[in-house]
Amino acid sequence: MRIALLGPPGAGKGTQAVRICQEFNLVHVSSGDLLRGEKMSGSPLGMRIRDFIDNGLLVPDDLMIRLMEKKIAVLDCGFVLDGFPRTLHQAQSLRIMLQKTNRPLGLVLNFGVDPSVLARRFEGRRICPVCLAVYHLDSMPPKVPGRCDNDDSDLIIREDDQPEVVRTRIHTYQESMAPLISFYAQQGDFKTIDATGSPNDVTLSVLDKIRRHFADNPERN
Ligand code: AP5
Repeated sequence: MRIALLGPPGAGKGTQAVRICQEFNLVHVSSGDLLRGEKMSGSPLGMRIRDFIDNGLLVPDDLMIRLMEKKIAVLDCGFVLDGFPRTLHQAQSLRIMLQKTNRPLGLVLNFGVDPSVLARRFEGRRICPVCLAVYHLDSMPPKVPGRCDNDDSDLIIREDDQPEVVRTRIHTYQESMAPLISFYAQQGDFKTIDATGSPNDVTLSVLDKIRRHFADNPERN
């Protein structure tokens, strides 16, 4: 299975990507995690992209596409793309990338969420800086407050979860997504998910959509 998740910041793409990968034994490819990793490493690329991420702006397409191409080229199994593509140019490049190895995307899931729930999702998000697990103070709390369930690290707040940066991220999303969604909607293999409910309810609906889609279209697997 090769699946891409679209949706606004805070929609729950990362949370559901992890669960989809566990269920179907796929690899989670998060563009945000890749970029934050580069930023933290202090590499020349990390220095170039830091300001974009910290200010909630999209990293330029050429850099993003090169990074993802390198990552996807070495995958010899199914995957879930989380946060990529995010522009029409990225989507077109991804299609060419996957055509080269004759393994097109089998499904694009677009997460829709009621904007009224988003602010609380950012306020309550905590992440593990080591294993990158994502928690929420109310909806997905760690077993021990402030500590990662997997490696006991101190949980942190993502730097771009500050309210003013979140506003820019949402605005950036709104500006770039319409052409991307119509690109995929025209091609089929495109489904929307209501991601407003609880994490477990959303998971049930996501897994059901995936199972049905690939059962009805086995050639897309
Ligand atoms: P990225 O890391 O991709 O961030 P994003 O798309 O803004 O999405 P988020 O990670 O904020 O949200 P999510 O949908 O994954 O939600 P989550 O599951 O964490 O990108 C960061 C930056 O990198 C961008 O701003 C840009 O600068 C750059 N970038 C990335 N990709 C790029 C690209 N392709 N091109 C150019 N630049 C790029 O959930 C949020 C919180 O809510 C969590 O605390 C979670 O526990 C909780 N939660 C999840 N689901 C639910 C639920 N159903 N109910 C209640 N709480 C929930």
